[in-house]
Amino acid sequence: MNRRDFARLLAIGGAAPFLSPGVAWPRSLDLPPTPASPDEKFWLSVRDQFVMPKELTMLNAANLCPSSGPVLETMYRMTKDMDQDPSQDNRVKLGDGRENTRTLLAQFLRVTPEEIVITRNTSESNNLVSTGLDLKAGDEVLLTADNHPSNHTAWQEKAKRFGFTVKDVPTPNPHPGMEYYVDAFAKAITPRTKVISFTHQTSTVGDLFPAKELCRLARERGILSMVDGAQSFGLLDVDLSDIQPDFYSGSSHKWICGPKENGVLYISKSAQSKISASIFSAYPGRVGVSRTFEGFGQRDEPTMIAFGEALTLQTKIGRSVIEKRSRDLTQALLAGLRKVDGLKIWTSQEASRTAAVVSFQPGNLDVRKLAAALYQKERIGCATRGGQDRPGIRLSPHFYNTHADIDRTVAAIRKYMATGV
Ligand SMILES: Cc1ncc(COP(=O)(O)O)c(C=O)c1O
Repeated sequence: MNRRDFARLLAIGGAAPFLSPGVAWPRSLDLPPTPASPDEKFWLSVRDQFVMPKELTMLNAANLCPSSGPVLETMYRMTKDMDQDPSQDNRVKLGDGRENTRTLLAQFLRVTPEEIVITRNTSESNNLVSTGLDLKAGDEVLLTADNHPSNHTAWQEKAKRFGFTVKDVPTPNPHPGMEYYVDAFAKAITPRTKVISFTHQTSTVGDLFPAKELCRLARERGILSMVDGAQSFGLLDVDLSDIQPDFYSGSSHKWICGPKENGVLYISKSAQSKISASIFSAYPGRVGVSRTFEGFGQRDEPTMIAFGEALTLQTKIGRSVIEKRSRDLTQALLAGLRKVDGLKIWTSQEASRTAAVVSFQPGNLDVRKLAAALYQKERIGCATRGGQDRPGIRLSPHFYNTHADIDRTVAAIRKYMATGV
């Protein structure tokens, strides 16, 4: 870090006399206002908000996103503030900051702060729902077949314990279209169905589900609806006042690019009387459902405040602009991959059925070796998918990626498909 960078860092949080070079990062340059038609130059200035080295192309947002510089700075500044003066008096303002994050989350999801619980991740949010509902023998929960364990195994395990049953609606590949799912759920519902739960966008191949229509169907039949938003929160311009689920979950460390171990659980006002809290301890939130659902004991409030900074950065850039950018990059990636001989692409070729997760099988190439070559030789980060279910490579572009990243990635995959790894 050069002297100028270090001076900038100091300017962030006042003097930092024992800050060692090498444990900090240069401050990001200010982000310019989003132009009416954002070009690559603008997106490069967004990329500059992140501390990843310039040569690194990360295409793994579905798993873990980097926090931006402003988020890291807030974490650093607030943690330092707390540890310089860990008194009760000083910590009151951290509680205010946590409530500010709740307000930002409510604005972001277009609901009220009284309906927001700040959890530790999507897994916790999903499990608070499946444990907290009063379900018993004779009740039925309807799931899409392709869910994360926190929204699938969790329901199955609780069904064993509490005696209710779980039924899957099949998820054929390729994505059969939105109408298929509305129809399949309508047919699968019985008088016993009490909950419908599905993933907004699947982490496996990026299938999108008709969230609004499925939630409406549930509402019309007096059924509760839960949307696992791990793969939509911070990617899609999610409007819960429009989708109207009873529960929605998300993680801070994925598409929203916030700190690790923060998450959100939305519980609609009308569902709040139908669910009980499963964790009781000190230090709950101050408003609405957070007063009963957010008492998890001592929290890391500096990171909860930094979570708010991540929401602010995305809001500043523009939610719909971010969604469009990630979708455009994904479509460019799919167009490039379609021209590479020998790939079996699992992700839907219909742009409206997917958002920003692309999975494919690279012919007979060893997936682990290919991922290692991509990362070590080309500096391209991806995820691998093992097992029998649509195995291969998963790429998930986000707003910190550029079209140059996409071109480089397609070229590298083409090269290894031609030469082997
Ligand atoms: C659809 C879905 N739900 C839930 C999760 C769990 O997220 P977390 O590890 O943040 O709890 C994931 C993680 O990849 C996911 O893809």
